[in-house]
Parts: sequence; structure tokens; C-alpha cells
Amino acid sequence: MIYEDVIKPFLSEKRFKHCLNVARAAEKLAKQYGADPEKAKVAGVLHDITKEWTVQQHLKFAEEFGIELTEFEFSSEKLFHAMTGSAYARHILEINDDDILNAIRYHTTGRAGMSLLEKVVFIADFISDDRDYKGVDEIRKWAYRGLDKVMMEGLAYTVKDLSKSNKPIHPNTFGAYNEIALKRVKGEKVVKASELCSKVCEILENKKAIEVNYSCVKDVSVLADYFIYATGTSNTHVKSLAEEVELKLKEKGIYLDRREADKYGTWILLDYADVIVHIFTEDARKLYNLEELWDKVRSEPK
Ligand SMILES: [Fe+2]
Ligand SMILES: [Fe+2]
Repeated sequence: MIYEDVIKPFLSEKRFKHCLNVARAAEKLAKQYGADPEKAKVAGVLHDITKEWTVQQHLKFAEEFGIELTEFEFSSEKLFHAMTGSAYARHILEINDDDILNAIRYHTTGRAGMSLLEKVVFIADFISDDRDYKGVDEIRKWAYRGLDKVMMEGLAYTVKDLSKSNKPIHPNTFGAYNEIALKRVKGEKVVKASELCSKVCEILENKKAIEVNYSCVKDVSVLADYFIYATGTSNTHVKSLAEEVELKLKEKGIYLDRREADKYGTWILLDYADVIVHIFTEDARKLYNLEELWDKVRSEPK
């Protein structure tokens, strides 16, 4: 089914273009974060399918298909389209994929426990090319630097925007916000250096880094507890290894303190306070020879 053709009769030209833009952004974000790009595109195209219905149309449809509205939802017309849109996709368009249906269902409020696809569509709706609200550039900037980070930005924007005009805020929005905020606090304060070290090594190995190794330097250095070393097969591989570590840790709410790189792209340093990650090309690893240096320091009598 060509969903672009399906939505066209439902929408004004402006809204139709918005949906295509959201689909495009969702597809791109999905590719970046490892969600299914096809599903992201479908959810993006359909997310506002019932947005231009009248209140009566929404309520009639909700009654017909047994959509239960909470008291909060019943009082907020802006939320109707997310619920009826998802139900329309399920019952009329016969889409059975729960992830797509939930991505439509929660694209306005978010919720705790959002899937990757739900987050992708939520953010795509925030940053689509047609959006021009104040602050959109800031959110666009974050969109490709970590999904949880940009979710926080988007949810915080929603909370601020609604509270500014004394509008109620859906509990699901707080649920989504708090979940990420708590994960972040926990990530920063609870993850032990040894656990973080193991996690980073695992991420690097999964991304085919060569000779992943670490030195425990907590007794001999104030710089960190652990230094991790890994080799990439090329400058591009070095870069993608560093990006993977940053991304995977951000998803866990662990944020980078400092990033450094040499001008040739042969060495990248990621500083996570207690754990410092060095990713090199093969030649650069030999040249800097940090492992040997720190092994020597460790073996010196104190
Ligand atoms: Fe919407
Ligand atoms: Fe939208």
C-alpha cells in the first residue's frame, strides 16, 4: 500500500507535506540509531493521518472502535489524533505491527518505556524540515548526537511550552522525561569504573575493534581508573568505533566529559572521567605505545 496516497485526501497541502517531511526525518534517524527505516517511514507518513478530523469525527471513531480515553485525554483535543490515528492504522489500514502503531499512538506525549522506533518518530515530528518554532535548530543539532539526549530536549521543550500557557501536561510526557532523567543520574553516579570499562570493551569488540585491551591505573594515576586501548582498521573505522562508544553509552545515560583527536584522524580519546578510551589506527597505536608506558609505570616500585 502506498501510504502517501492514503493520507493525501485526509490532509491539507501543508499537513501532507509535514507528514512526508516527518517520514523522511524518521527514516534518517532510524538509519542512524538502528531502528527499522521502513517502519519509521510508515509511522512517519501516517502519524497525523486524523489530525484534521473534527472533534465529532474523533469521538465517533473512538466509540466505534472502543478507544478508551482517560479524563485527561478527553479534555485535550490535541491528543485525539494520536489515538484515533493509531486505531485507524490498525482497524482500517490493517497494520498489525504494534511498534508502528505505538509510534503513532505516542508521537505527541511520549511515554515511559518507549521503543527505539517510538523515539525516532517522536523526534522526527520535532525536527522535520517544515518545523520553524523557536529552538528547533538547537533540537536539530542534538538529533543525531544521541537519542536519549534529544528526547530530553524534546520532552523538556514540550513541558516548558505547555506550562508557559498553563496547559495541562500528559502524565506520559512526565513518564518519558523522568525515565531518561533518572537513567542519566543513575548512569553518572552509580556505574562503577570497572563495569564501565567492561561495557566499553564489549562495545568496541562488537564493532570489530582489534586488540581491545585495558590497563588498571587507579593506583598509579590520578587521571583515571582505567585506560582502554583499541585499534581500528582505518581512520573511518577509528571514527565509527568512537561514535559507537559515545552512542551506546549515551543510551545508558552516560555522557562524555571530553573528546580529543589528532589532526590526522588516527587517534581519538574519549574521556569518561574514571575511564579513558584510546582508539588508534595500527600505526598510531605503535607510535604512542601507551600500553607499554603505563605497564612500565605500574611495575615501578612505589
Ligand atoms: Fe501529531
Ligand atoms: Fe506531526
